[in-house]
Amino acid sequence: MACGMKLLLVATALSLALSTQHFVQGKPQVREPQVPCFFIFGDSVSDNGNNNLLPTFAKVNYSPYGVDFPQGPTGRFCNGRNIVDVLAELLGFENYIPPFAYANGSEIVKGVNYASGAAGIRKESGRQLGARISMGEQLKNHRTTVLRIIDILGKRSLAKKHLNKCLYSVGMGSNDYINNYFLPQYYQTSKKYTLEEYAEVLIKQYTQQILRLRKYGARKVSLVGLGLIGCTPDAIKTYGTNGSSCVEKLNNASQQFNQKLVALVDELNTNFTDSKFIYVNSYEMGSGDPTLVGFKVLDAGCCEVDQYGQCAPNKTPCQNRTDYVFWDGFHPSEASNLISASRTYSAYNASDTYPMDISHLVQLQLEPQVTAI
Ligand SMILES: *[C@@H]1O[C@H](CO)[C@@H](O)[C@H](O)[C@H]1NC(C)=O
Ligand SMILES: *[C@@H]1O[C@H](CO)[C@@H](O)[C@H](O)[C@H]1NC(C)=O
Ligand SMILES: *[C@@H]1O[C@H](CO)[C@@H](O)[C@H](O)[C@H]1NC(C)=O
Ligand SMILES: *[C@@H]1O[C@H](CO)[C@@H](O)[C@H](O)[C@H]1NC(C)=O
Ligand SMILES: *[C@@H]1O[C@H](CO)[C@@H](O)[C@H](O)[C@H]1NC(C)=O
Ligand SMILES: *[C@@H]1O[C@H](CO)[C@@H](O)[C@H](O)[C@H]1NC(C)=O
Repeated sequence: MACGMKLLLVATALSLALSTQHFVQGKPQVREPQVPCFFIFGDSVSDNGNNNLLPTFAKVNYSPYGVDFPQGPTGRFCNGRNIVDVLAELLGFENYIPPFAYANGSEIVKGVNYASGAAGIRKESGRQLGARISMGEQLKNHRTTVLRIIDILGKRSLAKKHLNKCLYSVGMGSNDYINNYFLPQYYQTSKKYTLEEYAEVLIKQYTQQILRLRKYGARKVSLVGLGLIGCTPDAIKTYGTNGSSCVEKLNNASQQFNQKLVALVDELNTNFTDSKFIYVNSYEMGSGDPTLVGFKVLDAGCCEVDQYGQCAPNKTPCQNRTDYVFWDGFHPSEASNLISASRTYSAYNASDTYPMDISHLVQLQLEPQVTAI
């Protein structure tokens, strides 16, 4: 079983690596993508350059970031592709989804990436690192995009139809813990709320944000749950593990948030029959034994890190990067991202996604909701 899994995942990663060469060279492809557009909201896991122009420590447009990326350092918090980059490939897009900060032309009708390192559901999360684009601000930027798309397509009704067909990925919440609740020297939230209350408060605010996204036309939405935030090299270094392999209080916080997020997915799918929301179980996907899929180093990043847990500038990173689960103190390596993306797109284990994976989500024919009179 374990051996089968290893083979499967390695094979998937390989076929992805191969198909990418094709993709990166921008060969003209006749094939249409499975959705006409892909919009991305999130934090550093998805950021592909939005923080580059901001005064913040949470930006990484320098070497060795991007060492395995064709364009070099772009602001991606990775040696290579992010999960959403690989998803764009799997969906059949010809190009990666451009960051809002640099997207200037009609390319935006195919999607925009709003993600920002250190950003959270709460406006203040990540403040101690400098500027960042919170979920609320990312939605404001999306509103700008929607207005531009109405202009480009010439008609509000056409824009609405188009926006209804897109895939939306939203992954927020990690920074509301690691760059807020668990930094009592900077934030009051842990004095004000128990962990249980905090998860409730976060999900309440997140619900409003997701409803706003729906108001802007989103109908197929992937909500990415929190991963094992207590297992990053930085978390282990900062908090210690008290004898276990990870920082339990951080992982527990993740699980509390995720439980409520799953309940929200159910509620949204019950309330809105013209829409479909899915939950991506990052926690479960991260819980397996990484050595079974060929990783060798689990508790240290591939690059030498600075005081922020990010790669120190211009230092040579490790050579055998596919051996590492982590690239820096917080962020998974491209090798990890390939596996996460492939399981999000096409679930390997039934519990990877709920109630369906992205390959099924994008195929759904959703009917406009008939309102009873
Ligand atoms: C859009 O941005 C690209 C790359 O950032 C640049 O090469 C191009 O000239 C810009 N186009 C316009 C119309 O500003
Ligand atoms: C550390 O582990 C011991 C034994 O499992 C437990 O009694 C103690 O409460 C733990 N301390 C913290 C800070 O979690
Ligand atoms: C984490 O959750 C488990 C299971 O609910 C519990 O037994 C444990 O004490 C929690 N640990 C911490 C540090 O909160
Ligand atoms: C779903 O509908 C119920 C009943 O009308 C309502 O109380 C709840 O707030 C709605 N939830 C969302 C997320 O829209
Ligand atoms: C490759 O990684 C292993 C750890 O898995 C390490 O011991 C070895 O020195 C690395 N080799 C090179 C060439 O970096
Ligand atoms: C699949 O998910 C279940 C439930 O989370 C878990 O118990 C099981 O170990 C997983 N199987 C594999 C092969 O990852």
